[in-house]
Amino acid sequence: MDKRWIYIGDAAKHCGEEVEIRGWLYNRRRKGKLLFLLVRDGTGIVQCIGDEKSLGEEEFSELDHLPLESSLIVKGVLKEEKRAPGGFEMNLLSAKVIHKAEEYPIGKKEHGIEFLMKHRHLWIRSKRQVAILRVRSRVVRSIYDFFFERGFVLFDAPILTPTSCEGTTTLFEVNYFDDKAYLTQSGQLYGEAGAMALGKIFVFGPTFRAEKSKTRKHLTEFWMVEPEVAFADLNDMIELGESLISHIVREVVSNCGEELLTLERNIDSLRRVEPPFPRMKYEEVVALLQKKGADIKWGDDFGAPEESMISESFDKPVVIHRFPKEMKAFYMKEDPEDSRLALGFDVIAPEGYGEIIGGGQRADDLNYILSQIEKHNLPQEVFKWYLDLRRYGSVPHSGFGLGLERTVAWLCGTEHIRETIPFPRMLYTLYP
Ligand code: 4AD
Ligand code: MG
Repeated sequence: MDKRWIYIGDAAKHCGEEVEIRGWLYNRRRKGKLLFLLVRDGTGIVQCIGDEKSLGEEEFSELDHLPLESSLIVKGVLKEEKRAPGGFEMNLLSAKVIHKAEEYPIGKKEHGIEFLMKHRHLWIRSKRQVAILRVRSRVVRSIYDFFFERGFVLFDAPILTPTSCEGTTTLFEVNYFDDKAYLTQSGQLYGEAGAMALGKIFVFGPTFRAEKSKTRKHLTEFWMVEPEVAFADLNDMIELGESLISHIVREVVSNCGEELLTLERNIDSLRRVEPPFPRMKYEEVVALLQKKGADIKWGDDFGAPEESMISESFDKPVVIHRFPKEMKAFYMKEDPEDSRLALGFDVIAPEGYGEIIGGGQRADDLNYILSQIEKHNLPQEVFKWYLDLRRYGSVPHSGFGLGLERTVAWLCGTEHIRETIPFPRMLYTLYP
């Protein structure tokens, strides 16, 4: 590797030096005898200034007509320039075109979302998308750090599964030789087996739901991190969820300043995200919503408008716990103090970004779980292995799932979840 090849992200360390940058042409303009090239390399954007004298007539003219997104290697001396985009400037000594691009389809004019989605493979090169994907990467890293620092073991759950976890209406079915399989909706049930083997584990991977509604919060393929802890109760999990969320936010705020600036994200509202979060029982939330004029009664689920109403009332994420049993999945533990309720909890993000965590304490009694499987009309045979966990050393245990893309959407302040994953999968969206 050429010692002088640097990444724009490291420009501050190389002021005054003659360096080489390898990237793509992001923008160019000419002002008299000077050429201003914006070059991006994935870590940043640098303004390069060339004049005909030092570049030579031929090179100058080639650059002056170079289509956007052509790849090139530029050499020159770096200096700090507060007024330049990115804060640095390079006086060009040479610029070698690696590939002259065809006329780039994404221009400076506003494009409709349909066009951008069709060109997602190119759209991700834009400043805003690069910023979002960098935040996503940092969120993932902070999640791994969080769990490894606390002694959790990474536990990979299968993608192809014989059962549903979160209800049978959103299952993707695939042929599995002579049998049928489903793409996993959640790694939780396997995570529970992992917790009985390893104490505390986390599953982190893609999950799938055949969501037939078109909303700004739903993908059909999304990533979820799912801790599961033996001997932990609902309260322990709420605390773990609060710590995880505030850890992620802190890491993003302190490491993604440039990206948040590009995204014009208000950081003050993120700085407030420190535990404890407000906690409310489901019934208290229903009362609050009714007071605010919502048409809702005990037993109803919260939709997007209700979630927004809830988050409006607080400036931190909100924990809602103890939901009516009927609303929730078969594996939830009944509240010993009120048999109408389940020991589940959700965390609703601020500013209307919706539910980012769902979880709770698991039913640990074999007979109760059997009755729930029957009540939910689920086939008992495929859960045989899962029931074994209640036969051999069953213990109280709890866990939750945090949706990665909704978390990234909230942190970045993106209106729609489709921008938070490189290649979103949604109803009617499978290309590219
Ligand atoms: O609330 P959910 O359905 O909970 C579970 O799947 C549990 N089995 C998790 C567990 O306890 N281990 O989903 C968890 C989170 C939601 O709060 C949301 O953030 C995200 O996953 N999520 C989605 N994100 C994007 N698109 C979708 N279609 C999503 N469905 C759920
Ligand atoms: Mg949920």
